[in-house]
Amino acid sequence: MNIFQFLLLGCVFASGTSADVYSLVSSISWVPKTPALVDQSTIFNGTYYLSDRSNAGVHVISLSNNTQRMIIGGFHTGLVNGSASSDLSGPNGLIVLPNRNELYVGDGDGSIKVISLLTNTIIANISTGFQTRADELAYDPISQTVVATNPSEPTVSVSIINATSRFVIGNISFPVALALEQPAFNPFDSKFYVSVPISNSNLGGALAVLNLTSLSVVSTIPVPECRNAGIAFGASNQLFLGCSASQLDAFGFAASYVMDVSTGTIVSNISGVTGNDQVTYSSSTGWFYAAAFQDVLANGTATPRVAVIASNGTLLQSIMTDDSVAHTVAVDEQTGTLVVPVQARGILVYSLAGIRKNTGSSTASGISATEIAKSDAPKRSVNVMLLVGAGIAWFDLLL
Ligand SMILES: *[C@@H]1O[C@H](CO)[C@@H](O)[C@H](O)[C@H]1NC(C)=O
Ligand SMILES: *[C@@H]1O[C@H](CO)[C@@H](O)[C@H](O)[C@H]1NC(C)=O
Ligand SMILES: *[C@@H]1O[C@H](CO)[C@@H](O)[C@H](O)[C@H]1NC(C)=O
Ligand SMILES: *[C@@H]1O[C@H](CO)[C@@H](O)[C@H](O)[C@H]1NC(C)=O
Ligand SMILES: *[C@@H]1O[C@H](CO)[C@@H](O)[C@H](O)[C@H]1NC(C)=O
Ligand SMILES: *[C@@H]1O[C@H](CO)[C@@H](O)[C@H](O)[C@H]1NC(C)=O
Ligand SMILES: *[C@@H]1O[C@H](CO)[C@@H](O)[C@H](O)[C@H]1NC(C)=O
Ligand SMILES: *[C@@H]1O[C@H](CO)[C@@H](O)[C@H](O)[C@H]1NC(C)=O
Ligand SMILES: *[C@@H]1O[C@H](CO)[C@@H](O)[C@H](O)[C@H]1NC(C)=O
Ligand SMILES: *[C@@H]1O[C@H](CO)[C@@H](O)[C@H](O)[C@H]1NC(C)=O
Repeated sequence: MNIFQFLLLGCVFASGTSADVYSLVSSISWVPKTPALVDQSTIFNGTYYLSDRSNAGVHVISLSNNTQRMIIGGFHTGLVNGSASSDLSGPNGLIVLPNRNELYVGDGDGSIKVISLLTNTIIANISTGFQTRADELAYDPISQTVVATNPSEPTVSVSIINATSRFVIGNISFPVALALEQPAFNPFDSKFYVSVPISNSNLGGALAVLNLTSLSVVSTIPVPECRNAGIAFGASNQLFLGCSASQLDAFGFAASYVMDVSTGTIVSNISGVTGNDQVTYSSSTGWFYAAAFQDVLANGTATPRVAVIASNGTLLQSIMTDDSVAHTVAVDEQTGTLVVPVQARGILVYSLAGIRKNTGSSTASGISATEIAKSDAPKRSVNVMLLVGAGIAWFDLLL
């Protein structure tokens, strides 16, 4: 046991919390260059895929040996004054169609690129008819239908795509929505839900439930004071809603939610976790994962992190990240391995620790001493927050 481990152990007893659920196993260097702008990521069959606008391609990384196999190019660069742009550059959102061995990736010119995962090549270019980026995606494996968002259009819309024919069936526009975020397919009611961060009728955010037959929004579920970005379904009808940074500006508090979409009721309030973009769920652990890259403490100090959250809303761990490229998180469905990109450190791979103890109830800001310490263990200087009764103290450990 070295001094650092000894201090950590001390923290465990001092704060009454127990071991981390994740630990860092690999940092994969950026190739070809360190990106300024990445978008979504996912894991399928032990392979990690990350959209990287700065490199105009999708990174393909084998998690068996944590090695980058290739970067799939062929995306629309859409440079604005020499730099990649969120509205016009690709690749953007991505999703695997597991029963088809295909990856759908939104591109900067409104098209969607279909990649065969057997050859890692683009095999189709689906035009949605929109000129700005096609972004985030959801898939119903039964009807083999994809929903893609068009969030940079003057009137935000979604495109409905037949994955068998690769034809656009139609589009649904959202005249009252002021932004569009993640769509998600709910296998428990076979409906698509679209995250609407803000609309003229719901300033805190809403979920739009789609009917693909009538090509319309059949119902709108209001979300309380969230400005929801990423959404992900867990167990039956349980939707994790990652609230975005504008929640703090608009409503003055930080929280994310689990909603039972069959009733519209908030069943968990994860206090302290905000500033989210992509969120995900892994059936291997039964946990939600939130890329809270714009999270802040109550006093305004930035705490960019990936929050690991149990299905009952208990915060299990915070993995400290950055507020630039760490707005995406992916988790392996088989192994629970977690991957998050951090600009200055590369693509970080975390494995589940051998012993999985829960950390008890979540804290005021939701972070425990061991969580921060171990998450940042490779760094020389580590901020450790100790929980002393209701008070919170920060220490800077120089190692
Ligand atoms: C890593 O693993 C992948 C898939 O198993 C394999 O194709 C690749 O050659 C391996 N790379 C190295 C450097 O071992
Ligand atoms: C591009 O650069 C020009 C000149 O500096 C500036 O006027 C213009 O606003 C920039 N365009 C965008 C979209 O940033
Ligand atoms: C993924 O795994 C399934 C089941 O083993 C296999 O049928 C499929 O071909 C694999 N796809 C890829 C892209 O590896
Ligand atoms: C893909 O489709 C778009 C139309 O949405 C078109 O502008 C673009 O040139 C196509 N790209 C390729 C590589 O064919
Ligand atoms: C909407 O969907 C139709 C298919 O019905 C497609 O042809 C059209 O280009 C789409 N896009 C726009 C912007 O209308
Ligand atoms: C999708 O296209 C296939 C092949 O053209 C067709 O058989 C199927 O009915 C279509 N599905 C939907 C949902 O439109
Ligand atoms: C969806 O639209 C179709 C066609 O208009 C309609 O028959 C059906 O009842 C609608 N479903 C729901 C759940 O509203
Ligand atoms: C969630 O908790 C926060 C306090 O952290 C509170 O301000 C907010 O109103 C709660 N939201 C709901 C829907 O209960
Ligand atoms: C905010 O609070 C943290 C934790 O108490 C502390 O370390 C940090 O210095 C504070 N920042 C400011 C600007 O007060
Ligand atoms: C919440 O879930 C965690 C992890 O599964 C568990 O350890 C904890 O006891 C649960 N808390 C409550 C209040 O049920």
